[in-house]
Amino acid sequence: MSNTDIRTEIRHLLKERNAVLLAHNYMRDEVQEIADITGDSLQLSIEASRTDADLIVFCGVHFMAESAAILSPQKTVLLPRADAGCPMADMVDVSGLKELKSRNPGVPVVTYVNSTAAVKAESDVCCTSANAVSVVRSLSEKKLIFAPDRNLGRWAARAVPEKEFIFWEGYCPTHERLSATKVMEMKALYPDALFVCHPECLPEVSSLADHVCSTSGMSPYCAKSPTKRFIIGTEAGILFKLRDENPEKEFILASPALICPNMKLTSLEDLLVTLQTMQPVVKVPNEIRIRAKAALDKMLSVPRD
Ligand code: 13P
Ligand code: SF4
Repeated sequence: MSNTDIRTEIRHLLKERNAVLLAHNYMRDEVQEIADITGDSLQLSIEASRTDADLIVFCGVHFMAESAAILSPQKTVLLPRADAGCPMADMVDVSGLKELKSRNPGVPVVTYVNSTAAVKAESDVCCTSANAVSVVRSLSEKKLIFAPDRNLGRWAARAVPEKEFIFWEGYCPTHERLSATKVMEMKALYPDALFVCHPECLPEVSSLADHVCSTSGMSPYCAKSPTKRFIIGTEAGILFKLRDENPEKEFILASPALICPNMKLTSLEDLLVTLQTMQPVVKVPNEIRIRAKAALDKMLSVPRD
């Protein structure tokens, strides 16, 4: 089958099944191109909670499809590649988190959505990289546990110095591959460029940035800036949206190491097979789902600063 035929068949099956195709900003270009909605983790969670489609096809990694299944239990959620996981999400487990909670009674747990449903179920509120600061500010308690991303946690802690953070030492292996030395090298090569990065980057990398934001914050920031050239410190997939929405500007990836192997798994062929077979379905057991949903709902009710 040619790529054009695959694309035509995907659109046909999506229509026939009253499905919505959601794709994260890190997906392959051709997957982003065919999606109904592309966005960051926060935007895609909101879409998943609001859509009136019968079927959600989630092109992303496992925790994202799981969040969609938690927020929309009456819908079927398909994840084209069941093996698309997130190593950061696997760095925090329920028993470890329970143990940390027992050593800090009464301290609320803020959990990044890059986590399993079972871990979300043990949390008071979730956050994404787009709303972590607002979520932390919304807490009435001074002290909090932040899991699993130590880099996002430390970045939020700098923005909300009045709070006391207990950090879980998880991290994104893709973002941690970008070193401050590499950023300095790129800045020397392109002295007229601004450096924009994701808060999953190391603190010494974020400190070098002109702007730190979620993947969906990047394009509006670059569009508004009078600068013409940007060095980008996040997963390579974001370049598709940045270039598409800002054709007159230049975007340079800060390092060729910024590729998340999990985000690159899903192909158009995988998407077609998923729609033909209606597999793999992502489900969350009710007992976990209800408690995880409370943490996600609480996040969605926090107004953005
Ligand atoms: P966003 O928070 O911008 O969605 O991206 C972070 C990420 O790593 C998703 O896996
Ligand atoms: Fe997980 Fe990092 Fe890949 Fe996002 S980019 S899915 S946090 S490994």
